[in-house]
Amino acid sequence: MPVIRFVREGCDVECYPGENLRDVAIREGIQLYGLKGQLGNCGGCGQCITCFVSVVGDDVQDALTARTPVEDAKLRRRPEDWRLACQALVERSVRVLTRPQLKLADAENRFAAACNAPLPLGPTAWPNVATDEDELVEEEAATADEER
Ligand code: FES
Repeated sequence: MPVIRFVREGCDVECYPGENLRDVAIREGIQLYGLKGQLGNCGGCGQCITCFVSVVGDDVQDALTARTPVEDAKLRRRPEDWRLACQALVERSVRVLTRPQLKLADAENRFAAACNAPLPLGPTAWPNVATDEDELVEEEAATADEER
């Protein structure tokens, strides 16, 4: 599975291939938003422009899905490596800096450390998750075996 390395937070998070970056961050308790976004955001519709992240490192610039037309319009005066987390799907492992508009203490060393530590490429595959239906089929098979 892809790994998202959150540079500001200093943590790696696994996700499913194709998961929405904003959804993963929220699920994992990562703060995507600055004060304005915390006070009010669009909930992932691509309208409030408060869920910025920057993609860290030339080797992972294509790890997210391509910029959407919404991002092209909303980010036209922002750096090329900035994305709206709510519009980006994770295709393979990536490093991101949340709230890139805010200063990052000891940025040079933290970027270097994040880039130098190995990052699994991903995606490998969707994990096989046993469903209730699978368990039911197994139980039925076991019962049938017992009856024979
Ligand atoms: S959450 Fe509003 S633009 Fe992403």
